Amino acid sequence: MPYTIFETMSTLAFQSGNILEKYFENNNYSVSQKTSSFDLVTTADKESQKIIVSTLSSYYPEIAVIGEEGAKIEECTKVFYVDPLDGTLNFVHKIPFFAVSIGYWENGEALIGVVFDPVRRNLFYAKKGEGAFLNGKRIKVSSPKSLGNALFATGWPYDKDKHHKAVEDVKSVLNFNEVRVLGSAALELCYIAMGILDGYWEYSLSPWDLAAGVLIAKEAGAIISTPSGEKLDIFKGDILAIAPSLYQEFIELINRR
Ligand code: IPD
Ligand code: CA
Ligand code: CA
Repeated sequence: MPYTIFETMSTLAFQSGNILEKYFENNNYSVSQKTSSFDLVTTADKESQKIIVSTLSSYYPEIAVIGEEGAKIEECTKVFYVDPLDGTLNFVHKIPFFAVSIGYWENGEALIGVVFDPVRRNLFYAKKGEGAFLNGKRIKVSSPKSLGNALFATGWPYDKDKHHKAVEDVKSVLNFNEVRVLGSAALELCYIAMGILDGYWEYSLSPWDLAAGVLIAKEAGAIISTPSGEKLDIFKGDILAIAPSLYQEFIELINRR
């Protein structure tokens, strides 16, 4: 094999990101609904997924590939989790904030994460124990003194039953600061890694949303858990990624209700 797994993942994220960017510029894709009018898939998602999944499966037949479009979710010893377009709703509404995300996990542990933002030409990546990088330069989380000096992001779960909880959380956090909803979980985790956002939480995400971004955020120094402070389970998908200086204060705030 001429390339390392990391090189293959980066090259594929870059290639498929460039395809997404072309579709975005030319507006020449079609859109269909999945579970609701907010849960969409486009021909751009499908083409991106096809390239990534077919290449990974042919280069690494011994490694499972779980891509979002048409995925059968199961725990595997060695697995690539692929989100071929994270932020489809943004993409369709012409908001230039979306990414390709590929995570490589072994025995339930993240080893490599790659996220590519084709609009800004930003390639984020991390390998376990080696730090997090943006276009070759090391990135680190922020260190705000308290919740009052922080900027948070969250997302609205597709599962409407969880909306109440998400809204109550936002109300609590708004007592201290602003909350953004940027619409791409993978990129929001990378913005934690860069120190642009100080904290990000969301409920009911899927493994492909989180598999790369959580490693990038963690390697940049973030604390990763569920919003109530338990160990992250990417199959349940409740995530908190936060600057260490804010962790205790945030957990207490969310658990106080
Ligand atoms: C979505 C985005 C969004 C999050 C959703 C995800 P998709 O992924 O990450 O930020 O709020 O829950 O499903 O569907 O655009 O790949
Ligand atoms: Ca996604
Ligand atoms: Ca997606």
